[in-house]
Amino acid sequence: MNNNHFYVTTPIYYVNDKPHIGHSYTTILADVLARGHRLLDEPTYFLTGTDEHGLKVQQAAQKNNTTPLEHCNRTVIRFQELWQKLEITNDYFIRTTEERHERVVQEILTDLYNKDLIYSADYEGWYCIPCERFFTEKDLQDGCCPDCHRKVESLIEKNYFFKMSQFQKPLIDYIESHPNFIQPAHRRQETLGFLQKPLSDLCISRPKSRLSWGIDLPFDDQYVTYVWFDALVNYISAVGYKTDEEQFRRWWPASYHLIGKDILTTHTVYWPTMLMALGLELPKAIFAHGWWLSQGSKVSKTAMAEMTAAAKPANPMDMVDRYGVDALRYYLMAAMSLGQDTEFSEDAFILKFNSDLANDLGNLTSRAVKMLEKNFAGKLPPASEPGDEETALVAACQNAVKAMQNGIENMQLDRGIADVIAAVREGNRYFDLQKPWTLVKEGNIEKLGRVLRNTAECLRIVSGLLYPVMPGKMSELRRILGIRQDQLVPVMKNLGKWNILPDGAELHPLEAPLFPRIETAKAKFDESVKAAAKPVPAPAPVLPNVIGIEDFAKVSLKTAEIISAEKVEGADKLLKLQVRTGSEERQIVAGIAKYYAPEDLPGKTIVIVANLKPRELRGLTSHGMLLAAKTADQLTLITTDKPIPSGASVG
Ligand code: MSP
Repeated sequence: MNNNHFYVTTPIYYVNDKPHIGHSYTTILADVLARGHRLLDEPTYFLTGTDEHGLKVQQAAQKNNTTPLEHCNRTVIRFQELWQKLEITNDYFIRTTEERHERVVQEILTDLYNKDLIYSADYEGWYCIPCERFFTEKDLQDGCCPDCHRKVESLIEKNYFFKMSQFQKPLIDYIESHPNFIQPAHRRQETLGFLQKPLSDLCISRPKSRLSWGIDLPFDDQYVTYVWFDALVNYISAVGYKTDEEQFRRWWPASYHLIGKDILTTHTVYWPTMLMALGLELPKAIFAHGWWLSQGSKVSKTAMAEMTAAAKPANPMDMVDRYGVDALRYYLMAAMSLGQDTEFSEDAFILKFNSDLANDLGNLTSRAVKMLEKNFAGKLPPASEPGDEETALVAACQNAVKAMQNGIENMQLDRGIADVIAAVREGNRYFDLQKPWTLVKEGNIEKLGRVLRNTAECLRIVSGLLYPVMPGKMSELRRILGIRQDQLVPVMKNLGKWNILPDGAELHPLEAPLFPRIETAKAKFDESVKAAAKPVPAPAPVLPNVIGIEDFAKVSLKTAEIISAEKVEGADKLLKLQVRTGSEERQIVAGIAKYYAPEDLPGKTIVIVANLKPRELRGLTSHGMLLAAKTADQLTLITTDKPIPSGASVG
């Protein structure tokens, strides 16, 4: 097991699909993690690619009067061009039609066949053409595919099967003894739940009479390989399994397979059992992120085809053309809490851009750089020991370094980014408090130099921390700060230190704002509403219902992990939750059904009032109350900023 290497993968995308914001998200996420681990000075390998076999490709090629491979060659470009545009730094782009991959799949099939782990039998069941998956009668929902809810076809035919059932027990044992194998925790529970039912063997062949576009089975030329059995192998064929032992030993097992939650079973059941059968180590972690939604539904090719133009989320290419690649990368990383579903909207994108990047980071940069140009001829004033006035600024920057490192290592990028922006806000606060414009008037050049120098150090740290997210803009910022060309790519160990910029470094002129505000009719309107709503400063704070600390101490607040959640029959607003606080479990009934779907809650760590007298709601006993922030039409649960065990006291 190699612990000092970082090997990250994305799903290989169906070559037929038009890449949308969902595919872009997983790939950008992998890129940010890969760049983040390079920042931490770890050898890193980043793999993405395309899944090119299967019925849909065969049908599309027929429709276009071309061969399937020719069709793939034409369509794969959409992904490759988009990844280039999004500044994706993958080390390899695998296509399942490449010769090396096909050979490895065949060798694996031969090995498993020889080990007696593949057998032939008559298959009787139901097939979903769009999903290319077989189902048994009991899997179907209302007679339709349980995944896409479309009609299925009945089938009886000879096929080949992988003895997946043989690995059910070892897989359960493995998942139970490796708590980080499937992340986040509620997806682990989902897989364990799935594994409670007996696991069937996996049909891994398709008769050529029905589908010829696939990898031939080496032991029966009338069949091709089931597309998932072929696709999953990409994670090892790309790093040299059976072709380059040294490369394979270097990178396998993967550190993270990033996937959307739609392909959880294939990755956490099919793939690990295939690896067990081959006698290979399992990946260290499989992380299933949530979906980007548009008006509450998952963004997908089919959903987009059915949407009105107004409801359609912007195409990633258009977003890049309109706002720049870094702005899109920033939004996708900052706005999605990893593991949760998030609504994608251009309005939300513009708000976040204007607030974090134009107002906070862009503004701090132009304020500091302009004053340095004007008062120090664009040269960096000398360093000095930070004093009391800098304590909060230095602390905010150090906290940002820790948070970003944690974000990269523990899949909490949105939190890391939020703490970096908090350091930028502290930079702006420091600037406002020190009033450098007054220092200019007073001729206090020594102090002016100190203030500008410290602001520049804050900007250097921020530019390094946000470099994995916005490589283009952050390189530009680093160049502006006078960092040498060969040091534009940051290293984490310098980001934790103060006074790293060389005294007298020549700054690059700031020709245009780093992040020009996006002016839209809506953004202007929001600004005016915000300005109108600004409270008039009151002479002294008025505190309603003041309580003493002794009153507060009566309330026992604790962290709790949600284990399960379900609707309360006949009560639209209520959900019934089972939560764990330390070693104890309890039931809480909460009026949050309008704001949360039950399936999105398990795994969240919330805060509860633990010593509230139990009360009855609709015949159910609620043992305690959860905390949530509310406005007239919004509600959000209070969760914790960093992972902490349940049962921890809050106060
Ligand atoms: N070809 C298979 C994967 C094989 S991996 C061995 C496949 N391809 S796909 O083109 O459908 O891509 C699915 C992946 O795209 C999801 O797992 C997710 O990473 C990404 N997304 C697609 N739509 C998405 C959203 N709406 N939101 C977030 N990501 C989603 O499945």
